Amino acid sequence: MREKSFMDAILHGVAPTNEQIAAYLNAFHHRVPGVTSEVMLGLRTTDGRTSYDVVADRIAAAQPAEALDIGCGNGELLAAIRTRSPQIALAGVDLSAEELTLAAARFTETKIDLRVASASALPYRDGAFAAVAAHLVFMLIPQVDAALREAHRVLAPGGTFAFLLPRRPKQSTNLTELLAALSRKIAVRYPEFSPFAIGDRALFERFGIADLLGRAGFPALPTFDDFEVRAAVDGEWLWKAISGRYILGSLDDELTAELRAIVAAAAANGRFDYRESLRLVSMVR
Ligand SMILES: C[S@@+](CC[C@H](N)C(=O)[O-])C[C@H]1O[C@@H](n2cnc3c(N)ncnc32)[C@H](O)[C@@H]1O
Repeated sequence: MREKSFMDAILHGVAPTNEQIAAYLNAFHHRVPGVTSEVMLGLRTTDGRTSYDVVADRIAAAQPAEALDIGCGNGELLAAIRTRSPQIALAGVDLSAEELTLAAARFTETKIDLRVASASALPYRDGAFAAVAAHLVFMLIPQVDAALREAHRVLAPGGTFAFLLPRRPKQSTNLTELLAALSRKIAVRYPEFSPFAIGDRALFERFGIADLLGRAGFPALPTFDDFEVRAAVDGEWLWKAISGRYILGSLDDELTAELRAIVAAAAANGRFDYRESLRLVSMVR
């Protein structure tokens, strides 16, 4: 199984190669397409929006004639944009054919351009889009510089670029404590294991993001909107979210059962305050 060589590296404290990362992501999304939106749709901002709504609102505010979603997955963000802008020409790329099959099934009534392609080699002409978006994708790309350069290339001058990233919360939360407990359990079996960020760690800091964007050709400083999405969830939902995460969702059956027991205990009273810290980065080209 193609997830194995990546997992072997991670569990033994070895940095996986870019090829292993790409193969892992592909195999993961082949096995559980749509898992990101299943989880993220269950979480809300304080004003009742999903994280897809937050990105789509920013894109729709610019009233673009066409928009590209990079790493569009099963098309959740594209659907949110289409709801706000029924006439917009939409395009989406993803490495996973299975994710794109789910996306295509949403748009049987309307036209959409969906292609299997890498964020680092977008199959579009320069300046093809008035808006480019991405929801929880750039933090997964090992050579994110190339992907940001491509986003810059296909975005028309004056166009809007808006993308969502995970963010480290300022204080620990129920979720960060649970994730730490799960990592400790993995480290009992694999002492060299340490939690691994698949992509460029610079994307976890504002100055790192601004620096990467500047080097990709975006002259203006981005706007950062930090927010949380949360829900009180039960044990079943909590396990779905945890097993839908990379690495934690790809362990062997025995270790998976051990992690599942920790997750069940964390939601033992039937409710777990699940909070994801997120960051919307946006700018005009
Ligand atoms: C966490 S999922 C997010 C999916 C979707 N944007 C959402 O939020 O529902 C990451 C997606 O990015 C895709 N992906 C990862 N690396 C990519 C790359 N280099 N180029 C294009 N797509 C990529 C994956 O196949 C997956 O569908």
